[in-house]
Amino acid sequence: MSCLQDWPEPVVRVQSLSESGISAIPDRYIKPPSERPSIKSDHHQLGAGEGGVNIPLIDLGSLLDNLDDKTTLNRIWEACRDWGFFQIVNHGVSPDLMHRTQELWRDFFHLPLEMKQVYSNSPKTYEGYGSRLGVEKGAFLDWGDYFFLHYLPPELCDQNKWPAFPESCREVTQEYGIQLVRLCKVLMKILSVNLGLQEQYLQNTFGGEDIGACMRVNFYPKCPQPDLTLGLSSHSDPGGMTILLADDRVPGLQVRRGDDWVTVKPVPHAFIVNIGDQIQVLSNAEYKSVEHRVIANPVQERLSFAFFYNPKSDLLIQPAKELVTSDRPALYPPMTFDEYRIYIRTKGPRGKSQVESLKSPSPC
Ligand code: OGA
Ligand code: NI
Repeated sequence: MSCLQDWPEPVVRVQSLSESGISAIPDRYIKPPSERPSIKSDHHQLGAGEGGVNIPLIDLGSLLDNLDDKTTLNRIWEACRDWGFFQIVNHGVSPDLMHRTQELWRDFFHLPLEMKQVYSNSPKTYEGYGSRLGVEKGAFLDWGDYFFLHYLPPELCDQNKWPAFPESCREVTQEYGIQLVRLCKVLMKILSVNLGLQEQYLQNTFGGEDIGACMRVNFYPKCPQPDLTLGLSSHSDPGGMTILLADDRVPGLQVRRGDDWVTVKPVPHAFIVNIGDQIQVLSNAEYKSVEHRVIANPVQERLSFAFFYNPKSDLLIQPAKELVTSDRPALYPPMTFDEYRIYIRTKGPRGKSQVESLKSPSPC
């Protein structure tokens, strides 16, 4: 698609704006009033404290080897249905590896600008160092930079496009990918069984060993006017499932709950798991791909890693036959992930508008 060849305007690094010491953010980052976070006296803003709501926190330890623990399975089922989000601890990924990955990428973002610019991305594949999502000229922009990389399938994974510095960034990121894929396979089994499907159903439907995986390292610099903008606008993740490693010192992620936004309180060494649009479609909306966004912070920068586990991009994804009945007809037409993701890649993050627009009132 020719419209995806390049950015419509020169790219400005949010980090450079932040470090320039401005006290007012440029107009491009100022959201319309309805989209601004309500900072006021919102207690969620501080991270849900005692008594505050938070996404479910689940100890995955008992399910790593077999799926016998019905209580935990049930808690995950409820989380997928009611929240679309949950946090996991005892997930089998090495805390030391998580920590090293975070430190290396934090160091990457603190390299001099010219060392990062070498990896500047284009909307063609999005791989590399970027500062916007979407190619519409004049669009509102978010207060964040990112680094996007392809991990699977192997033929799309080109480590030369990953940062050569800091040293060992490539090697550690590769190891992080291996451990995250292992975790995703366990979660796919749990999600399948909870739908009453064969353990391997979701993994096989995603393409078996030929699944796709990519990672977006988000860097949210300090923002002088956090009440006027967002680090990342509201969106649902277009892929299958996302495993987020968030900064455990700086909250920022907010999850939609009805008309409210719940600020996730990060737990040390935890991952945040969320259902993406493709699994909402496959589950015929038993599982929810829920809108989320990131608020900006006036005093602290924030780093997060979103690992996206996706179907092989040319397979048709549609509601599982087992979940389609005359009472509950297929809510979505078949579509490949390649076709699906063009939307967010051109229009940028826009709530849940895409998966909702696909929903048909009559059987597909
Ligand atoms: C994303 C995302 C949340 C965060 O990258 O899709 O939702 O906390 N990130 O950075
Ligand atoms: Ni997201």
